[in-house]
Amino acid sequence: MILTRRKFAIGCGASAAATSLLYARLGFGAAPFSTPLPIPKLIDAAKLGNAVTLKAMVGEHAFLKGKPTLTYGYSSPILGPIIRVRRGDEVRMTVENALDAVTTVHWHGLLVPGHSDGGPQQLIQPGETWRPVLKIDQPAATLWFHPHPHHDTARQIYMGLAGMIIVDDGADSRLGLPRTFGIDDLPIVLQDRSFGSDGSIEYVSDDSSPLEVIYGARGDTIIVNGVIAPTANVPPGVVRLRLLNAANAQNFELRFSDQRTFYVIASDGGFLSAPVAMKQLTISPAERFEILVDFASGKGVALETGPDKEMGIFGRVAPDGSADYVAVMRFEPTRTIPGVQQVPTRLVEPTSVAEATAVRRRQFVLNSGLCASRAEAANHPGSLALIGINGRPFDIERIDVETKVGTSEVWEIISMGMAHPFHVHGALFRVLSIGGRPPPLHLAGWKDTILVEDKAELLVTFSRPATRERPFMYHCHILEHEDAGLMGQYVCS
Ligand code: C2O
Ligand code: CU
Repeated sequence: MILTRRKFAIGCGASAAATSLLYARLGFGAAPFSTPLPIPKLIDAAKLGNAVTLKAMVGEHAFLKGKPTLTYGYSSPILGPIIRVRRGDEVRMTVENALDAVTTVHWHGLLVPGHSDGGPQQLIQPGETWRPVLKIDQPAATLWFHPHPHHDTARQIYMGLAGMIIVDDGADSRLGLPRTFGIDDLPIVLQDRSFGSDGSIEYVSDDSSPLEVIYGARGDTIIVNGVIAPTANVPPGVVRLRLLNAANAQNFELRFSDQRTFYVIASDGGFLSAPVAMKQLTISPAERFEILVDFASGKGVALETGPDKEMGIFGRVAPDGSADYVAVMRFEPTRTIPGVQQVPTRLVEPTSVAEATAVRRRQFVLNSGLCASRAEAANHPGSLALIGINGRPFDIERIDVETKVGTSEVWEIISMGMAHPFHVHGALFRVLSIGGRPPPLHLAGWKDTILVEDKAELLVTFSRPATRERPFMYHCHILEHEDAGLMGQYVCS
């Protein structure tokens, strides 16, 4: 039975008693934090002559000990490999669809033309193969890949399809950053799931319950790299975590259990100009942040997440009911290998682009069918009940926006009713303002996804072409919103 908690939600301003579906109530058959953090396989594309094969397949994986269940993965029972690519290289991908469903593979954050972007037009039928050539031409960054078939994206990702891409441009060694994959440079894929008593995950797309669409699929158990409550053994020094929120809908509110300071060094599009010291970090669906954490003290610590503000009183409650934060995983500085000892003071100055160069301004009103305030509703009539953008649900036959390669535009995003993580394909943007203010430092670099609570202004730069046959998408990355039509498409010529 999934999505149970949401059954308690009764729409806007719901104030029913908080439910306490507990993270630890499952008794998943192993002591918490006894499972080592799985590290997905690293595929170093250059070592394979820049020819990489991925197979979207059905597998079996036991989230709960002794209770294997059906899952999806890329060349793996669940999730997929970490593909490292080098800037300047051309990577020939072979994507086989061994699923029982039509799929696509989208390279989220990779700057490639529309025809190799893997959006909902680029269907791969079961048994078929897709062979895009990806020209890697962007600064170092942590990206990811996932399916994008319209109306089935949410289910396919929930079943396990997601992998990471690391773009390497040589900056890591120049900056002296931790860079030994799986040792002091760790991929951390955060998701949530609910499980049946038989250990199964099932994705119920139940259109008869609009709340399940409005809130998106939210599980009561966090999984990291596909497992519940793992522990990573790390060197007693500075460790780099590549955080990816691959959840369907949930925002994670991350902090360490001892409230230590950590340093955000990169966001979706690559490095920030300098590390940003933080104690708490919100990461919304599809966002990535790279952080440095110092384990030199030798003390173990838990990574925790707090209640998702979007869920209000339905946010997660700790197992003992006493606190708002639950441990997602642990880090134990037990390895003896010496690691990096210092957080650098400077990173990479992001290329600048002046707002004044923007050729036009557009407004996108995101509506997910949740009640908007009366004032908002008056400004945007017709947007109350609908799930869509600017009063229109997604239509794969309709091009919504036309742009030009080499230009930039100011996109004003307005979220109605709840916060939406807004994502643009084929382009990167800078946040000009968020909630009417300049962005905080960790959101001031290049990004492709931004959580918009009320409104944001983005300076979007277009550098890759996309045709009417293979346009780029922009959409909310709450996957149930996207599948329900909170998406548009644009061409770039
Ligand atoms: Cu993560 Cu349309 O993408
Ligand atoms: Cu949304």
